[in-house]
Amino acid sequence: MNLVLMGLPGAGKGTQAAKIIEDYAIPHISTGDMFRAAIKDQTPLGQEAKSYMDKGELVPDEVTIGIVRERLAKEDCANGFLLDGFPRTVKQADALEALLADLNKQIDHVIHIGVNPEKLVPRLTGRRICPTCGATYHVIYNPPKVEGVCDIDGSALVQREDDQEETVRRRLEVNVAQAQPLIDFYAEKGYLRNLDGDRPINEVYSDVQALLGGQ
Ligand code: AP5
Ligand code: MG
Repeated sequence: MNLVLMGLPGAGKGTQAAKIIEDYAIPHISTGDMFRAAIKDQTPLGQEAKSYMDKGELVPDEVTIGIVRERLAKEDCANGFLLDGFPRTVKQADALEALLADLNKQIDHVIHIGVNPEKLVPRLTGRRICPTCGATYHVIYNPPKVEGVCDIDGSALVQREDDQEETVRRRLEVNVAQAQPLIDFYAEKGYLRNLDGDRPINEVYSDVQALLGGQ
């Protein structure tokens, strides 16, 4: 199954992706996670990406398309993949179509998690992540069992650098501007599946399961 998850920052892409990959056994390809890994490893890609991410801006299309091209060619994508946060511009969506055509593949569903942007600031400023395993929590909406501690491996939770309120507002502005043309692009192709993301995490996931069918 070849899937794309789209939605504004904080819509719940990463949260739903974690559940999907567990149930449907496909690799999770998050461009944001790939950039954060490159930053941690202090690679040239990481340095370039960081200069945009710190300001809440998008990394240039050529750079982003390049890393997705390499990733989709890997063997673990043979039976499907879950793209999270890519594409987010029409240029990236065009490039993805071309890339998949080269690989003799096509998208099955573009799952758009819709949430009113006004609700997303508290979701993002209240997010906490595990620096070891990447698990995502929220101080109010999805708290760990022990405050500040990862349920899975006991690490101390941290805040993402771009989750400070000022950067969050810029990220939302930038992504809102790109969203509608992308939604129109996929609606025209017949891939778009709209889900209401303004509900509890498990209810959103029930809709995902209803859409994707049993494993
Ligand atoms: P990326 O890491 O993809 O960030 P983003 O798009 O801003 O999205 P987030 O990861 O912040 O949100 P999410 O939808 O995954 O929400 P989550 O599930 O964590 O990208 C980071 C940066 O990299 C970009 O700003 C850009 O610079 C660059 N980049 C990445 N891809 C790019 C591309 N294609 N082109 C160019 N640049 C790119 O949930 C958020 C919080 O809400 C959590 O605390 C969670 O617990 C909580 N929550 C989740 N669901 C619910 C719910 N239903 N109800 C209540 N709370 C919920
Ligand atoms: Mg995410």
